[in-house]
Amino acid sequence: MMPTTHKSNGTAIATVPSNIALLKYWGKADEEHQIPANDSLSMTLKNAVTTTTATIVPNAHADRFELNGEERDLQAPVNAKILKHLVNLREHLHGLDTPYLSIVSENHFPTGCGIASSASGFGALTLAAVGAWTGAKDIADLAQYGLSPQRLAHLARLGSGSAGRSFWGGYVHWEKVDDACSLSPMFSAEYWPLADIIMIVSNEEKKISSTLGHKGAWSSPLFRPRLSGMPAKLNALKLFIRDRQFAALGALIEQEALDMHAVMLSSTPPLAYIDGRTGELLAWIREQRKLGNLPAYFTIDAGPNIHLICEKQNAAAVRAFLTEQLPQISLLSDETGTGPTLNWEPAYTDQNTKEDA
Ligand code: PMV
Repeated sequence: MMPTTHKSNGTAIATVPSNIALLKYWGKADEEHQIPANDSLSMTLKNAVTTTTATIVPNAHADRFELNGEERDLQAPVNAKILKHLVNLREHLHGLDTPYLSIVSENHFPTGCGIASSASGFGALTLAAVGAWTGAKDIADLAQYGLSPQRLAHLARLGSGSAGRSFWGGYVHWEKVDDACSLSPMFSAEYWPLADIIMIVSNEEKKISSTLGHKGAWSSPLFRPRLSGMPAKLNALKLFIRDRQFAALGALIEQEALDMHAVMLSSTPPLAYIDGRTGELLAWIREQRKLGNLPAYFTIDAGPNIHLICEKQNAAAVRAFLTEQLPQISLLSDETGTGPTLNWEPAYTDQNTKEDA
C-alpha cells in the first residue's frame, strides 16, 4: 500500500499579523457585504500576530475552536462571529471539500483592547482553514485553487473588515469602489519601516464590539463631514509615506484618530473607547513632543490603548523615556511587518509512514 499523503493528514499553520490603521475604517456603506463607508490605509505590524492551526477531523460533526488555550463553544452567542465566518467561508468556497476542523488559535498580544486582534484573528482563521482544506504548502501554493492574496483578503474581511488589510506587509489600502471595495498593498515594509510602541492603558476586553460601533457611525452629525474630507486625507497620507515625511504623517494620523473618536463620542448611543486616563496621556504626549522629549505621534483604534508611531532610529529612546516617565504603563514594541505566512505540517513521521505502507 502507498503511504497515505492525503491532504487531511496534516495541520495548516497560519500566522497573520495585526495592522494599525493610519486612516481609519469606521462605518459601513453596506453591512451585509462588509463594504466600508470610506477608504482606509494601514501599516502591517510585525510582532502582534495571531497563529492559528487547523486540522481536518474525519467524521466530526462540527468544528472545534480553541482560543488562547481555552475551548470556545461555537454555539454560544459570544462566539457567533467565528461560527458565522466558518459558514461564510464554506459558502464562498463551494468548489472545495470543506470538512470539519479542529482549530487552535493564539494571539501573541492582549485580546480585544484596541490592538486589532480581530484583524489578525479573522485573518489567521481564514488562512488556516483554507490551508487545511487545500493542504497547500504555503500562500503561493494556494494560487492553484484560485486563492490569491486578494481573494484571501476579501474572504477574511467578511469576518472583520480590517482583517483584509493584514494580507500584505508594509502599507495597505482598502479602497471603496462604487458599491464594492478592493484591497492592495501600496508600499512595502522595507520602503519605510516605522516603529509602533503600544502603551497598554488597559488589558480589559472592550465592552462594545466594533461591529456595533460601526452601525452607530451614521447617527453622528460629524460622520458625513468626516466622509467628505477623507479623499483629501488619503491623498495627503499617500504623499507623506511616499516622501517619508514623518512629522506631516504624524500630525495627520493624530488628527485622524481624534476625528474617528469624535464620531464615536457623538453617535447615538455615544461610544467612548477613550477614557479619562487615555485623554490625559494624549495631552502629555503632545506636550512632551513640543518640549523635544518625544519624537512620536499617537493613533488609537477601538480601545483605550495608544499606538505611538516613531521612526525606527528613535524607538529605543522613545521606549526608554516612556519607561522612565510612566513606569506604571506596560509597553509592547512593534514595527512595520512583512505580512502573513502559511505552513503545512504533515501528520505522519517517516516511521509511521513506513508502518502504514
Ligand atoms: O475590523 P473591525 O470591524 O473590527 O473594525 C476596525 C475598526 C478600527 O480598528 C477602529 C479602525 C481600522 O481601520 O482598523
